[in-house]
Amino acid sequence: MNIALLGFGVVCGGVYDILKNMPEYNVKKILIRNPAKLTMDCMTLDFADIENDSEIDLVVEAIGGLHPAREYILAALNAKKHVVTANKAVVAAYFDEFVAAAKENGVKFMVEATSGGGIPWIKNLQRVGRIDKVTKLHGIMNGTSNFILSAMTCEGKDFSDVLKTAQELGYAEADPSADIDGDDVRNKCAISAAIAFDTKVDVNSIMQAGIRHITKADIDWFKENGLVCKLFATAVCDKDNFDAVVEPVLLGCDTVEANVPKNYNITCLYGETIGEVKLYGQGAGGLPTGNAIVQDIIDINTNNAFDISFGKEMNKAEIIRGKYYIRIPAGLENYTEFIGDITEKTFTLGDDTVVVTTETTPAKIHSLLDANKDKAVFVARYF
Ligand code: HSE
Repeated sequence: MNIALLGFGVVCGGVYDILKNMPEYNVKKILIRNPAKLTMDCMTLDFADIENDSEIDLVVEAIGGLHPAREYILAALNAKKHVVTANKAVVAAYFDEFVAAAKENGVKFMVEATSGGGIPWIKNLQRVGRIDKVTKLHGIMNGTSNFILSAMTCEGKDFSDVLKTAQELGYAEADPSADIDGDDVRNKCAISAAIAFDTKVDVNSIMQAGIRHITKADIDWFKENGLVCKLFATAVCDKDNFDAVVEPVLLGCDTVEANVPKNYNITCLYGETIGEVKLYGQGAGGLPTGNAIVQDIIDINTNNAFDISFGKEMNKAEIIRGKYYIRIPAGLENYTEFIGDITEKTFTLGDDTVVVTTETTPAKIHSLLDANKDKAVFVARYF
């Protein structure tokens, strides 16, 4: 099988290293952006060299971002080449367009590497879906935020110091706000929910809150109360309705999820006959993510790739509910307008006020966040 790589950074570097030992797969061309890095004969600066090469069967896309990734993926599919991608942003935004183009051209579009790095998550969602209706999924799907929360919880470190280390270790996105504000998890949540519930999911309909404003005082209070905070994707479905949200959650300190260390991920699903399944592994990095890409390549080459159909019409509805911990900075007066009616208890933490709510919807809590974007409000749902 002849393969082209779009990009030669961490992920395609991992793919290249794995495929080097698999003679039946030949990396015929590599698209790079920087002329100074044209170090191998197979490298090109021109995507047309790949699009017009009829010997190339499959294109791996790992350049990241929306454009030109979208155009390259569509052009490759329309040139009747299979596409395997690790680019969660472009898939979350244009998933149904890519699936339709692949179907029209009789080729495969595969996304295992977009969500959970090396964890075989997407494939297992599809396998479970052959027998069961997947009714719920959740997970830690961002290594950078987990690295930060783990170091704050286990080593008492400060947020900004740990973020710097995560960047130095290469876990974080080019703009780490995608990691700490929840955008990266939201993309993975949209892709996972679309596969699990076999439906189109508008990524922008998923509410998100991140960990930017978490403090040592929050972490200390969680510890005193036997809780651990993690940034979670949660999605549920009920008949023709589904719901999804990305936000910090509070877990009992003895749960599996609470003990996921460092930059690791965990993804969990619930099926009717299989019950609960939890998959744990490295959610980022060149070799784990490269491994997920190569698994997709092998599945295509051996006719073991699942089709994606988005066969169900489902509505986004308010199904997820929970109690929330909300820390409100001193001086933010308008909070009672939003959560006065759902306040279960209030206490002070330093100069700030903490409200623990009664059971409510994410929409109610996120309306407080949206109205106070410039303030350091921190929220976490009791899971
Ligand atoms: N920045 C991402 C993470 C990379 O930290 O999980 C993998 O998607």
